[in-house]
Amino acid sequence: MSYNLLKGKRGIIFGALDEHSIAWQTALKVHEEGGNFVLSNAPIAMRMGQIKELATLTNSEIIAADATSLEDLENLVDKATEILGGKLDFVLHSIGMSVNVRKGNHYTNQNYNFTHKGWDVSAGSFHKVMQVLYKKDAMNEWGSIVALTYMASQRVFPDYNDMADNKAYLESIARSFGYFFGKDKKVRVNTISQSPTPTTAGQGVKGFDGFIAYAEKMSPLGNATAIDCANYTIAMFSDLTKRVTLQNLYNDGGFSNMGVSNEVMDTFMGE
Ligand SMILES: NC(=O)c1ccc[n+]([C@@H]2O[C@H](COP(=O)([O-])OP(=O)(O)OC[C@H]3O[C@@H](n4cnc5c(N)ncnc54)[C@H](O)[C@@H]3O)[C@@H](O)[C@H]2O)c1
Repeated sequence: MSYNLLKGKRGIIFGALDEHSIAWQTALKVHEEGGNFVLSNAPIAMRMGQIKELATLTNSEIIAADATSLEDLENLVDKATEILGGKLDFVLHSIGMSVNVRKGNHYTNQNYNFTHKGWDVSAGSFHKVMQVLYKKDAMNEWGSIVALTYMASQRVFPDYNDMADNKAYLESIARSFGYFFGKDKKVRVNTISQSPTPTTAGQGVKGFDGFIAYAEKMSPLGNATAIDCANYTIAMFSDLTKRVTLQNLYNDGGFSNMGVSNEVMDTFMGE
């Protein structure tokens, strides 16, 4: 069902790799709600992913950008505003990657070159995206910027590795940059903290099957899906949430406020 919530709005969506990607599902919903956008991903993802299919489905153009490269981001923002015919109303940062996780390095045995790279891709890139948008004055007033995060930024999930630290940094950037974007440009900046979701990035985390099943049992409403996340993001891009900013918003079926659930307890009880 469409409510035309984003009619006439323009934006950039980062991070759609395949149909499991949260950004992919979000792009479909934004299109359904009447928004126009440019899709962006790292040049390497263009070869691996099926992003062209998404571009056709949503009648949008693709501009490659490595989100750690200021030059690429500047080119992207210039071209996106040109293609879309004006300043932007929404931006989704749906980007994450840890080289330590990929290489199977334990948290206590990091390769710091990998740590730095993972930080740059997963957290630093969010600052870079916003700095480019801010300096170019590329956002319309009452625009909305959203980045995706995970609960391991706030609580310990041992196998989430250095991504936990990257997410903590990302959430802090949302608040710190959100202040200036709010004061100077009337733009809101938030992070959405999403349930574990079976995507390429999600499944890269060791023990993923275990903690998605655990979160499902802990959450009174069950895990939020990629489509649930897309719907929440639409609300955050719409004019219905104009004064929500500097927040870390949980889209997790209630997981973040749970201590223990009866279902989890049952697995420890005899008989
Ligand atoms: N899947 C989960 O369990 C989960 C839970 C909470 C939050 N998140 C977050 O959601 C976001 C999207 O991830 P997803 O789960 O949809 O997985 P995904 O693998 O589909 O998306 C990650 C994207 O990041 C892109 N990317 C990597 N390096 C890049 C670079 N240098 N420049 C530009 N793009 C780059 C990838 O190409 C990919 O499209 C991430 O921030 C992730 O941490 C995921």
